Amino acid sequence: MPSRTPRLLVALLTIFTTLAPLAQELPRPRGGQDALPTTTEKQNPTSDSPGRAPRPASVSASGPDGSARMTGRFPTGLRSLGAQQKPPSRNWLLDADSDDERFRRLQIAAGGSDVQMQQVGLRFEELHRAVLLDNRPMADYHLGKIREHMQIMGLKRPNRTPNLEDMFLLSGAFEDLRKVIQTGTHAQLKDQFLSTRQVCMACHVAERMGFLNDGGALARTSSFPAHVVSAPR
Ligand code: HEC
Repeated sequence: MPSRTPRLLVALLTIFTTLAPLAQELPRPRGGQDALPTTTEKQNPTSDSPGRAPRPASVSASGPDGSARMTGRFPTGLRSLGAQQKPPSRNWLLDADSDDERFRRLQIAAGGSDVQMQQVGLRFEELHRAVLLDNRPMADYHLGKIREHMQIMGLKRPNRTPNLEDMFLLSGAFEDLRKVIQTGTHAQLKDQFLSTRQVCMACHVAERMGFLNDGGALARTSSFPAHVVSAPR
């Protein structure tokens, strides 16, 4: 009987000294409950169990190209990404479970009409510069790109196609500017550019996006300065 107490004490001390360093590694339990590791965890500290920070299974596992080393997580809010069998990695297309899912991801990444309209805005500023310098091939080039991006926009968002075509591409706005680029005087070209700009803004109003008309691309193209020096051609 008297010898039992010291042995019990020694056993308790051994358990305590083994567990103490482990307990320091543990994340603070959220629910306020003390989460000491169980015997199984002590023997197998890599196991995922409540109370222990989950170990990302693929952090150390790397593929032939080393890609799986970059392990993170999918953003919340993009539907069904979590269904993927492989852990998230930079192979965001190749690792998808099916081609349907790959196309869906491409469609998300390709964005909507804003991506195309940003391109249109950028081209429109370049067109403005071309008109300013009376550089006709440059003006023609950027006007062509504007049409291409409007068509891609109509592909992505068919609800925008009617106004894109009826107000701009097929209304005469596009054709008139193209004709003036080809044959008009410099003064006519500047005038025509400014009329085209009005059509851009009218469509934004028609599409209930009129607040965008204060934006940089449209603000920066509202007039032409008098004295300009052109680059050598
Ligand atoms: C369908 C009629 C339509 C026409 C024509 C049109 N736009 Fe737009 N534009 C839109 C819509 C709709 C948006 C908003 C896109 C969105 O909802 O994502 C937009 C957005 C923009 C933006 C802001 C893009 C961004 O997200 O930063 C710019 C810049 C722009 N348009 C420039 C132009 C210019 C320049 C022209 C004329 C050459 C033009 N747009 C012609 C409908 C039109």
